[in-house]
Amino acid sequence: MNINVVGSGYVGTTLAACLADLGHDVTAIDIDEDVVAELNAGRAPIHEPGLDELVAEHAGENLRATTSYENVAEADATFLAIQTPSREDGSIDVAPLEAAAEMTGDALADAEDDHLVIVKSTITPPKIDAVRDAVAEGAGEAAGRVEVATNPEFLREGTAVEDFLDPQKVVFGTDSEWAGAVLEDIYAPLLADHDAHVVRTDPETATMIKYANNAFLATKISLINDLGNVCKEFGIDAYEVADAIGLDDRIGERFLRSGVGWGGSCFPKDVAAIIAAARESGYDPAVLEAAVEVNDRQPERLLELFDEHVDAEGKRVAVLGLAFKPGTDDTRNSRAIPVIEGLQERGADVVGYDPVATENMRDRFPGIEYVDSAGEALEGASGALVVTDWDEFGALDEEFDAMAEPVVVDGRRIVDRREGITYEGLTW
Ligand code: UDX
Repeated sequence: MNINVVGSGYVGTTLAACLADLGHDVTAIDIDEDVVAELNAGRAPIHEPGLDELVAEHAGENLRATTSYENVAEADATFLAIQTPSREDGSIDVAPLEAAAEMTGDALADAEDDHLVIVKSTITPPKIDAVRDAVAEGAGEAAGRVEVATNPEFLREGTAVEDFLDPQKVVFGTDSEWAGAVLEDIYAPLLADHDAHVVRTDPETATMIKYANNAFLATKISLINDLGNVCKEFGIDAYEVADAIGLDDRIGERFLRSGVGWGGSCFPKDVAAIIAAARESGYDPAVLEAAVEVNDRQPERLLELFDEHVDAEGKRVAVLGLAFKPGTDDTRNSRAIPVIEGLQERGADVVGYDPVATENMRDRFPGIEYVDSAGEALEGASGALVVTDWDEFGALDEEFDAMAEPVVVDGRRIVDRREGITYEGLTW
């Protein structure tokens, strides 16, 4: 099939490259000329394992990029993968998405053939009508049928290509059988080889599934963190408890790692957005609000545990891990942010280390020291706080001997307790 993907950010680029890999003819449309040039030169504008290879393989063949909407109507469908920035109150700003929907609609004004516009961006159910209106306004009296569908993504950073090409489920949110059939055709090459569940529903339910999915997982972590804090009070190891409750398959063993909390671009944003949307329509989702509160509390608790052992004022203090999770250089909503802020409030000289995320954190905290290894960060440090569960932190050993005050407060249970250091786990 012939498919457009509007927006070449993280989701859009992954989608475009993977659709090309499924054998479709894909046109990536983006207003950023540099991004378009990169894609046409066979390079992915974002870093994601496996993506560079896919872009290199398909660019110039069945994957092209352009800044123009000119040929939109020649395709069978257009995915909208446009950013939806958060507002101050957590709600999402769909203006950029609406603008792209309008331009797509305009380009469809003289379409002879049917065309499906598919929202890939994560938008709350009440916002779908705005996209329907924007498309309809542009498309006007197009001869062909033009409809809007939603098809949420469930990609994790670091495994996005793998998650796309081998999904547990795909969700089609459509208003008609015709639109459902278009999505079936797009995904047919993938579904032929994989036993993914296909969920067919309306556009509003489909996007609610995405929010509920992320809100559930984030709340699962907050719940185990809440229980973990209780365990710590009683001198009980929360990981032993988590391992045992995970054996109940109604609970499940995954996402039960208690610690300094969830970060990244999805959980914090999506939980905030669905809370804001619910409140706007008159309902306060109490459990979700509590999940956010527990998540905000965990970095504070990490700092309070640290205070019990070290007076940070004027001291060199190491922060190990700056990325929001291992395997990525993304620092958005990383728990390292409140931890560094807390240390700065205490008057500490913060030294940060991360194997790949330093540059991204430097933009936010240009004033702190960054070093090239965990060993260097620990040298002369009065205490270390562990924020990201990079495997290499589990292999640290003699490096602790060079600390001025050998205190390790671990927010991810990655460092081993050993002789010669005072070790504090957040929930164990
Ligand atoms: C998440 C969802 O998993 C994905 O389906 C969705 O599309 C986007 O959001 P991602 O943000 O890439 O993906 O990260 P994920 O691996 O889910 O981890 C999210 C956060 O939860 C990280 O900060 C991680 O450290 C934390 N986490 C995860 C825990 O604290 N404990 C756990 O047991 C699991």
